[in-house]
Amino acid sequence: MIPYLQTAVQREPALHLHAIEPDPNRREQAKQTASTHDLDIQLRSGRAESLPYADDTFDVVIASAVFCTVEDPSRALEEVHRVVKSDGVFRFLEHVRSDGWRGYVQDGVTPLWKRIDNGCHLNRRTDDWIAAGPFALNEIETLSIGVSPSRPFVRGTATPVSRTETDSRIDRREHVSSSVLESSSEDI
Ligand SMILES: C[S@@+](CC[C@H](N)C(=O)[O-])C[C@H]1O[C@@H](n2cnc3c(N)ncnc32)[C@H](O)[C@@H]1O
Repeated sequence: MIPYLQTAVQREPALHLHAIEPDPNRREQAKQTASTHDLDIQLRSGRAESLPYADDTFDVVIASAVFCTVEDPSRALEEVHRVVKSDGVFRFLEHVRSDGWRGYVQDGVTPLWKRIDNGCHLNRRTDDWIAAGPFALNEIETLSIGVSPSRPFVRGTATPVSRTETDSRIDRREHVSSSVLESSSEDI
């Protein structure tokens, strides 16, 4: 994900980037990737379920291949909703459960897969959960990228909905899929 942010910074040099990564080794890797691409990212230890940022901080929150892995995707979505500004946007690129027989294979393989791939679930319906959660989906597309069985991916954007609407949506929800975060803001 980090290399792609270079284009965004070239377009808008005043962009401030913040990111979290709970795993110390991966955090170090991310730091090195950021410096290779000459990106100034404030990278912190943190979990998507408890983001280390104040309410209404970010213009954009980006989740890239992370909702497959977070422990509590529902909580993580709530956190994204909390830290993104009311006129901000949530962008995501996540692999999700396939339709048809491939989805059943992913259901069967996931218990083993998450043991060997650091908690990654192949069968999370992250797109459905975003749509049913505290966001309104603006656009979404399914992409035939990724290596089987971690496919397809969905890419989309969503905007936060008001707390009242959020509460009624959450009541209809039992569980979310996977998580987060790379973002931009000028004011933290
Ligand atoms: C599949 S990797 C993707 C890494 C990166 N986003 C990318 O696209 O290359 C999933 C990442 O989620 C991180 N992760 C696991 N649990 C998390 C949590 N609760 N909150 C935030 N990140 C988490 C893992 O440490 C890992 O770096």
